[in-house]
Amino acid sequence: MKILVVNGPNLNMLGVREPAHYGTQTLPEIEAALRAQADEMGVELGFVQSNIEGELVTLIQQALGVYDGIILNAGAYTHTSIAIRDAVAAVKLPTVEVHLSNVFGREEFRHHSHLSAVCVGCICGFGADSYKLALIGLADKLK
Ligand code: DQA
Repeated sequence: MKILVVNGPNLNMLGVREPAHYGTQTLPEIEAALRAQADEMGVELGFVQSNIEGELVTLIQQALGVYDGIILNAGAYTHTSIAIRDAVAAVKLPTVEVHLSNVFGREEFRHHSHLSAVCVGCICGFGADSYKLALIGLADKLK
């Protein structure tokens, strides 16, 4: 089983970026912990990050035929990007939407996601553990 983890804008700044919302772990640290978990589960992981909307669209498109599912934290593009939503819908790979913070407890503009309707599930509010929970849930769905 192969799962691609896609991270969007500003998630490369984790560790220094608003730690009250996003914690103190860096993206490479989150990746290492997730890989350890994936190894235990016998899941192969890919891990990519981009600050650019079109690049995220391309990365999602390129997952087709290579990966069985996607874990997607599209950052702020969650709330704005129809292009990323269309890419998820186009590849039809089971995708879990992830957020470190509880977006529903924050500003109103974070309450709406363009992605949720085309994802198999959404996990938010558990910090870096949101990725681990998404991995468990997605791997179970893909069995
Ligand atoms: C985020 C939540 C988004 O609203 C925000 O723009 C991010 C990170 C999260 O992981 O909590 O960049 O996706």
